[in-house]
This record gives sequence, structure tokens and C-alpha cells, in this order.
Amino acid sequence: MTFEKNILCIGAGYVGGPTMAVLARKCPLYRVTVVDIDPVRIAAWNSDELPIYEPDLKEIVRATRGKNLFFSNDIPGGIRDNDIIFVSVNTPTKTFGVGAGMAADLQYWEKTARQILQHSRSSKIVIEKSTLPVKTAQAMENILQCTNSSISFDVLSNPEFLAEGTAVKDLENPDRILIGSRETESGLKARETIEDIYANWVPREKIIKSNIWSSELSKIVSNAFLAQRISSVNAISALCEKTDADIIEVAKAVGMDSRIGPKFLNASVGFGGSCFRKDILNLVYLCRHYGLSEVADYWEGVVKINQYQQERFLLNMMTAMFNTLTDKKICLYGFSFKANTGDTRQSPAIFIAGRLLEEKAEVIITDPRALSNARSDLAGMEGRISFVEDPYAAAHGCHAIAVLTEWDIYRRLDFRKIFDGMIKPASIFDGRNILDHRQCFEIGFNVYPIGKPPLTHF
Ligand code: NAD
Ligand code: UGA
Repeated sequence: MTFEKNILCIGAGYVGGPTMAVLARKCPLYRVTVVDIDPVRIAAWNSDELPIYEPDLKEIVRATRGKNLFFSNDIPGGIRDNDIIFVSVNTPTKTFGVGAGMAADLQYWEKTARQILQHSRSSKIVIEKSTLPVKTAQAMENILQCTNSSISFDVLSNPEFLAEGTAVKDLENPDRILIGSRETESGLKARETIEDIYANWVPREKIIKSNIWSSELSKIVSNAFLAQRISSVNAISALCEKTDADIIEVAKAVGMDSRIGPKFLNASVGFGGSCFRKDILNLVYLCRHYGLSEVADYWEGVVKINQYQQERFLLNMMTAMFNTLTDKKICLYGFSFKANTGDTRQSPAIFIAGRLLEEKAEVIITDPRALSNARSDLAGMEGRISFVEDPYAAAHGCHAIAVLTEWDIYRRLDFRKIFDGMIKPASIFDGRNILDHRQCFEIGFNVYPIGKPPLTHF
């Protein structure tokens, strides 16, 4: 069969895999290839055990793989055979040298640009799908245009806004698609080509176009605004705990203002995930680079409050448990950074588990999807840690449960049965405010929600 378009994606991670699977599903006349340097990841995409868990993803991959969706390690071949190349390699926070702990580490990105240059035999549209500091496209262009070849490259920015756990839904029905380009004749033409791809399933009015720098910056700013809402509500949760106000009631009252809106106002143990922290730190770094120290300090506050909230959660546990956690058995309900994903990157659970171990508590971890990631996150940490799939067995013999991920299954557990198997006094620290606190209290638990008065039997 001949295809209308041949599309490549470099990077088969949480973004590349789902994004291209949905694209292939929506556009049966396009041939979509996803390549990666990691052979294990590619093998997993070609197997029944996909490398990531996302609701509905397996079905989509099953329906398209081998028909118009292909996963491969052949990066040179992929570059040669495809003229539209999405790049969704990782852009983590730099851990060394200048900008360590703040700036984006662009080594994977730059290597990809060089690979594209080396293996291209025809002109290409190269699309930034990864989240990148504003002005990265300039560097990409400089690398791609450094030879005198007749091959030309148009670099576009088309950031991805999907959230994990709802990736398929977000990709199928996005709030918007953003495409940024140079406003030259060929840049605008390339932008149209990408717009036409999305128009296969996204209404045209939701596809917005901008200059390339606005597009790059909008992605980081969107994440910063989302994280800022969480830090705002979490900061107020601390005040609620001091004043007997209830953060759920406050968030509801605030969020019903149509100018503010109700989403992203759930107080929690803190936000996690691979992107919020890294993207804000990158924003802070950029602002400092341009001499905007007040702007940098403002955004850095979002990350500081997030750290404060996690530490505060730990200290609340300690205070409630008679100021010592030594030899206490604490069961963590949930380890992934949010529900419906096995991803644990930057999960508050890593921090909480580490601090509990420092305090010489015994930590028992349960999670429906994230136990293997939890194992590798905590490998090398000193102390008593165990991993138990069944939440009832996990809590058995424990002094306390800390709910760290908002998995639905935890709402439906039989807490009377759990209470009966625990050491008394038994406590619940609900880091997600998902349980029926009154009911747990009536069963006999001491209950410590976030941003609400605790319910205790003392
Ligand atoms: P990831 O680590 O899951 O995947 C990146 C993949 O790129 C890895 O499999 C890695 O092996 C591969 N890779 C690295 N260098 C390569 C190279 N030179 N050639 C081929 N493959 C290479 O990362 P992710 O979560 O998919 O994120 C990718 C980008 O998308 C990041 O910039 C991130 O900020 C952004 N983003 C992520 C999400 C999310 O929900 N995870 C959402 C929106 C945007
Ligand atoms: C986030 C953004 O929502 C996506 O738009 C963006 O594409 C993505 O980052 C990215 O660039 O990587 P994600 O991190 O997958 O997506 O998940 P979110 O739903 O945003 O949740 C992030 C964290 O905030 C989770 O730990 C979640 O539990 C927490 N959260 C979220 C709260 O604590 N309270 C809330 O009200 C909402």
C-alpha cells in the first residue's frame, strides 16, 4: 500500500508513543514510524507489554501496529525515509556544570539534530514536540543549516499538552493544538502541512498558529500556570490547618468564580511528574539569564511551596505519631505521581518514602501500576522497605496509612477490615483528600486530611 504521508517520531517515550499511536489511528492513510535509541523500549512497544501504562493505549496500538504504525531502532533509515520528523526526546533538568539543577539538559536534543543532519537525503520539516527553552529552534536551525547542502530544513514548534493518565483522551480531543513557525514563505507552508495532519481529527478552530518563540514559550508557561494553581491551593491548605477552615470548601468557593474556574484546585501532598518542576526551573533559569530576577523569584516560589508541602506532610505525620517514627510501620497507598499511570518520576512518594526511612520507619508500599518503578526509585536507599500488591495485606500490621496517589480503588476499600488488621492507634494521612474522612474516623482511625481539621480520638 502507498501512504499519503510518511511521518517519523524520534523518541518513543510517554509523549512519542501515545502521540504517534493516536495519529496513526486517526490517519490510516499515513505511515507513522517511531524510533528510539533504547532497544528495550522499542521491543516493548512491539510486544503485548507496552513500556508505559495509559488507559486505552493498548487497544489503539493493537489496532494500528504493523498496519500504519511501526516501532523501530533504525534511526538513520527512519530519517532517510520520512520528510516530516517529530522530535520528542527527553529534555531533563541538567545535573552537571553550568545551570545544574535548573537549566534544561539539551544534549539529547542536540544529538538528534545532528543525526537528522547526517542522515537526511531530502528536505525535511522538523517539529519540536519536546518541551524546550524558548529560542531552542534557533540552535536547531544553526545545526541543521551548517552545511552548504541543497537540502533545506524547516524547524517548527508543536508542543504537546497531554497529561499522563488521560493521554489518549487528551490527544483525541485536545483543548488546542499549537503550531509555531518562522513567518517566512517556507515556514508558513510547513505550518500548513502540520495543520493539515491534525485537521484529520481536530476542528480547525482549535488549531492555533503563532510565531515560533511564542509557541516554545507557551508550553513552559502553561505548565507553570498549572503548577502555580496547585502551589496556591497547597499554600492555603497550610493556613486552613491552622484556622479550622476546610480547603475543599475554600477551593470550591474560589473555583466557582468563572474567572478562576474549578480545575487544578485539589490540595495534595504536592505535585509530581517529570515536567512541572523541570519546566518551572527552566523558566526561572531563563529569566535569570535575561536579568529578570524578580520574575525568576516569583516562579521559583511555586517550586519552593511544592517542596514545603511535602516536608509539611511528613512533619504532620511525625507530630501526630507522638514525634517519633522510629520502628513505626507506615503503609504508602500509591507511589505513582498521579492516578492512572505507572510513572513515578518526581513523585512526592519518593520524597516521603526517603524521609520516612531517614526517620527509621519501616515503609510498605502498594500501588496498582507503579511497584516496579518504585523498586528502582528506592533501590540503594537504606532501611526497611517492602512492596505489596494487595492494599489490605500492605496495611496489615501497620501503624499508619499515607494516601499519596488518588487511585480510585482506594476510595472503595473496606476500611473497617483494614482497621481491624492495624496496630492501634491507627492513623490515616490522606495526602489526596479522597477518602470518606468521617467514616474512617467512625471506624476508629485518627484521620489527618490535607487542609482540613483532623478527626482524632485523643
Ligand atoms: P521519555 O524519557 O519518556 O522519552 C524520551 C525518549 O527519547 C526515550 O525513550 C529516549 O530513549 C529517547 N531518546 C533520547 N535521545 C534520543 C536520540 N538521540 N535518538 C532517539 N531517541 C532518543 O520522555 P517523555 O516523557 O516522553 O518526554 C519527552 C518530551 O516531551 C520532554 O521534553 C517533556 O518535557 C515533554 N512532554 C512530556 C509530557 C509527559 O506527560 N511525559 C507531556 C508533554 C510534554
Ligand atoms: C502536566 C500538564 O497537565 C500537561 O498539560 C502537560 O502536557 C504535562 O504536564 C507535561 O508537560 O508533562 P502531568 O504532569 O502528566 O501533565 O499530570 P497533571 O494532571 O498535570 O498532574 C501533575 C501533578 O499535579 C500530579 O502529581 C497531580 O497529582 C498533581 N495535581 C494535579 C494536584 O496535586 N492537584 C490538582 O488539582 C491537580
